[in-house]
Amino acid sequence: MSEVHQIPRDQVIKYLVGLFDQRGDSLYAGEPVSQTEHALQAASFAEAEGASSPLITAALLHDVGHLLTTLPEDCAEQGIDSEHESLGAEWLETYFGPEVTEPIRLHVAAKRYRCAVDSEYHATLSDASRLSLQLQGGPFTSDEVTQFDKHPQARDALRLRLWDEAAKIPNHVTPTLTHFQTYLEESLRPC
Ligand SMILES: [Fe+2]
Repeated sequence: MSEVHQIPRDQVIKYLVGLFDQRGDSLYAGEPVSQTEHALQAASFAEAEGASSPLITAALLHDVGHLLTTLPEDCAEQGIDSEHESLGAEWLETYFGPEVTEPIRLHVAAKRYRCAVDSEYHATLSDASRLSLQLQGGPFTSDEVTQFDKHPQARDALRLRLWDEAAKIPNHVTPTLTHFQTYLEESLRPC
């Protein structure tokens, strides 16, 4: 499903910036912002809340799976779950630790969790997010809620989910990718 291969660690940040340059202008499917705008807004919300460098990095990269996949942007409308959260997390874990990769891996599960525990949350989702929710398995069962709560990165994934939902504001001014590169560098796994 991915058209990319692993690359040397000392080139990964440059590679990620290039990925946004090449594919980030594509629309975030069904939303009024591009992939890059969505990522920058999520990261800026995380930064504004004083999140850690790994969690700001996770916010910036949470949808990188959409940039790595060869599936079309409108695959959800075709009834296909891109599983972008797993694709992104698995690709990133060569370079970043679980503080970055697990909130990314869990950010779809966090939507399913919140739909199960917060009766008003579903109504706040965008149409595109509601469509993908059905493909992703719908709200969690009570057993799934219990399992999710046990995950060490569950709280961070829920925070990321809130930034993700908020990061769909047309023409919202944010810092550039260059501003966030420091957080990525601080979050890289040690050599
Ligand atoms: Fe997102």
